[in-house]
Order: sequence, then structure tokens, then C-alpha cells
Amino acid sequence: MKLTVKTLFGLEAVLARELTALGAAGVRSHNRAVICSGDRELLYRVNYCSRLALSVLVNVDSFRIRSGDDLYSRARRTDWSKFMDPASTFSVVPVVNSRLFAHTGYPALVVKDAVADHFREKYGRRPSVNASDPDLMINLHISNDIVDLSLDSSVVPLFKRGYRTEQGIAPLNEVLAAGILSLSGWKPDSPLHDPMCGSGTLPVEAALMACNIPPGKFRKHFGFSRWTDYDEQLFKRVREINDSKICRLPVPVTGADISDQSVAQALVNINNAGLEGMVKVERQDFMESRGNEENGFLIFNPPYGERIKPEETELFYKSAGNTLKHNYHGYRAWMITAGKQLLKHVGLRPHTRLTLFNGSIECILAGYDLYEGSRKHKVADGN
Ligand SMILES: C[S@@+](CC[C@H](N)C(=O)[O-])C[C@H]1O[C@@H](n2cnc3c(N)ncnc32)[C@H](O)[C@@H]1O
Repeated sequence: MKLTVKTLFGLEAVLARELTALGAAGVRSHNRAVICSGDRELLYRVNYCSRLALSVLVNVDSFRIRSGDDLYSRARRTDWSKFMDPASTFSVVPVVNSRLFAHTGYPALVVKDAVADHFREKYGRRPSVNASDPDLMINLHISNDIVDLSLDSSVVPLFKRGYRTEQGIAPLNEVLAAGILSLSGWKPDSPLHDPMCGSGTLPVEAALMACNIPPGKFRKHFGFSRWTDYDEQLFKRVREINDSKICRLPVPVTGADISDQSVAQALVNINNAGLEGMVKVERQDFMESRGNEENGFLIFNPPYGERIKPEETELFYKSAGNTLKHNYHGYRAWMITAGKQLLKHVGLRPHTRLTLFNGSIECILAGYDLYEGSRKHKVADGN
């Protein structure tokens, strides 16, 4: 099977590494996606275990067209009966960037007709379209004259892990949180603290990683389980193999927030993720906090200024910078914020700046080493 694994901008390289580790072959990064190949077991494993995938598409057919008629005849010839039967329902989700079609909706209608006619010809009956809860979600991608027809094996996006029933005003997408953790180079041998944890997404994702808890463990459904070729025993085996790797949390993973309400929300989500008592969260003002862990990591997502008064933003980021500088010696810190201006106020020089998007907001993920002294030492020692 050729798989197109979709992700967020900036996470392609870390997703490619994750897919290789999960056993995918021919792994190649694209824009917001990674292409790879593998068998049905890999498809189930990626859906169940990938922390960085948004959805997994299985390629059914790829071809060139010169018109809508070409699209109809190729889509009608495609062997849809491998995945659905006339009693199934389906929908077509179009992503079209082509001068051949003035409206995105039209090629989707063409494919719907082609699928219906394929079944009518073969069985005398046609499957119905169901846009809201289809058995089979067909992804139609047209770029100029190149068409890719795929099936969405996830349907509900994989960032919807299922543990986050509580959230504040600006929660991080779970895949973005897992991506930030991967990009930071954090490994579960360093204590991790999110001092502005909101609903707790970063600490929960970190603890899931550290305990080898598959992110799909809390989901009830995956798209592939409604396909006619669904192998229930195989998926059960995939779940059992990966669930057997779950371990206790090997390092402290903690969170804090200035808001009582956020702390309460984070605790509910931690509980939902089966991490009660393992991930601790407390009410604390970051500006009054001090780190005392050896080899600690701070990873956080402060307010971006939309929710703080403009005149207070500069002061907030300055204080955060001072707290990092004076109270977190020896830590590695990563902060995701919107815009260079906010970062400037921090007053520390990041060693890494990466562009990511939090929803539609362009952000910078900045990494800081807060151990100037020990770094100078290492340089002097020639290490
Ligand atoms: C953008 S939200 C974090 C969202 C979080 N990453 C999530 O996924 O839910 C920023 C959080 O910073 C908290 N905050 C603001 N000022 C703070 C301070 N001085 N100390 C600690 N937390 C603070 C807010 O209460 C808010 O929950």
C-alpha cells in the first residue's frame, strides 16, 4: 500500500523518523505530509501509534486527466469493491488545485457519480452518499492534471485522541504538542515541566510518550474499521503488541498554571489519559517559580498577546525571560510564541528558531540553553 500520512507544517521530518521507526518503507517528506509504503498491519499501527500524524490516506489510484470525462472514466474503473459494497455509505472530500475545474465541488460530484455507476453496473445497486458519517471517506486530490484517489483510514483526525474532554481558550492541538516535544529533542530521561500548562496538553503528551502509551488507546473508532477488508484480529494483535510496551513514568513530568480553572481542567484530562497521580499539576505564577531539577526541560506555550493587554505583553515576556535567566539555571527551555516581537522581549538569544503554525497563527518555537556557565566550560574543555 502507498500511504500519504498528513501532518502539520514543520513536523514532516520528525514524522518521517517516527514512521521509519514504526516500520514504514520508502519514507519521503512532502509539504505537510510524508509518503511511505507498507502493509495493512503498518496501516493499523500508524493509526494506533503515531503521535505526529493527522490522518493516514491509502492511495487507491493515481493518474493524469485532460477533462472531467477522463476523471469519470478512471474513477469508474477503480476497484472500489475491495473496500466497500453497495450497502456501504461514502463521501468524497475534494482538495483541488487545477485549471481544469472552475469549482472544487464539480470534480467531487464526478467521482461520486463514477463510484455509484461502478456499483450499479457490477451489482445492480449503488451505495448512498453520507457526508456526515460515511463508511468510506474518499479523498480526491487534484493538482493541475494529476489525480490521486485515496481512502482516509482515520476519518476523525488523529489529534482527537479522546482524553481531552476539558479545554481552556487556547489549547494546543495534540499533534502540535507531540511535535514540539519531538523537535525539542526531549527524551524521557530528563524531567519535564510546563509552567503555563492550560489544559495540560504538553505534559499529557509527554507522559504518553514516556510511558509508551499509544495515542490511539483512547479512541473508539478508526476509519479503516468500517471497510469491508477490515481484519479485526490483526488490529487486536497490533493493539496488544503495542499496549504490552506500556511502562511506568520514568521521570517527573509536571505542569503548573496561574489559573485555578486551568489546573482543574488539566487534572481531568490527566485522569482521562490514565495518568492520575503520575503527572502532577499545581497552581503557580511562573514569575515566582524556581527550577530545582537536574537536567530539566521547560516546554511551554505562553499567551500570545491577543489575550493580554498590549501594554502588558512586553512586561510579561520580559518577566518570563528574567525568570528563565535567573531561576532556571541548567535547564533547556522551549517556548512557542506568535511573532519575533514577543521573542525579542524575552531578552535571551535562542539557539534554535523553528516556524510552526498554531491553527492559523504563524509561530516561532524557540529553544534556549540556560546554562551559559557550563557551556563556556565545555568550550574551554574542548568538548
Ligand atoms: C496559551 S495557554 C496554554 C495552553 C495549553 N498549552 C493547552 O494546551 O491547553 C497559556 C496559559 O498560560 C497561563 N498563564 C498566564 N500567565 C501565567 C503565569 N504568570 N504563570 C503561569 N501561568 C500563566 C494561562 O492561564 C493559560 O492557561
